[in-house]
Amino acid sequence: MADKISVLIPEEKLCERIREIARQIEEDFQGEPVHLIGILKGSVFFLCELAKSLSLPVTIDFIQVSSYGDGMKSSGVVRISKDTDEGLVGKNTIVVEDIVDSGRTLSYLLKLLKERKPKSLKLCTLLDKPSRRVVDVDVDYVGFQIPDKFVVGFGLDFAQKYRNLPYIGVVEPGGTE
Ligand code: IMP
Ligand code: MG
Repeated sequence: MADKISVLIPEEKLCERIREIARQIEEDFQGEPVHLIGILKGSVFFLCELAKSLSLPVTIDFIQVSSYGDGMKSSGVVRISKDTDEGLVGKNTIVVEDIVDSGRTLSYLLKLLKERKPKSLKLCTLLDKPSRRVVDVDVDYVGFQIPDKFVVGFGLDFAQKYRNLPYIGVVEPGGTE
């Protein structure tokens, strides 16, 4: 049976909000360069849109961690499978994430990246599911707070599928078409 997907946040709304976040970042950094670290793979679409909207000098790097299997449940275990290419010393670093759920991934990553002595370290997420939080994390920039629903699109996947949907949709696996 095909998965049923219904639109939660349309593309226009996403892009409009991302431009607002970019203005906020520009205000906070006042012309200083920012170093974006995208958490692979989910943040890629968001990071591209954000980077294009920023009128500051921008550099980009990626890190990959795994805290999820192919399903919808967190395993609680966070592991680095691809580290950043560059160091963070003296850089205004912004970690870019697709969604904060339990908070485990970001809380683990933050501790690790702080030890690398960035000039500043901020967190930016497209989506936030506050009702699911297990570990406290201070997120500096949030696109949208969403209810406790499993979402896909704009980089987010369900078993590696649907990342390329241009909108955020709620997925109900195996629903009838
Ligand atoms: P956390 O460590 O529990 O905060 O998990 C965050 C990660 O879980 C995100 O980067 C996503 O990869 C994944 N995740 C959490 N909720 C969803 C969802 O609704 N759809 C797709 N992936 C999700
Ligand atoms: Mg992710």
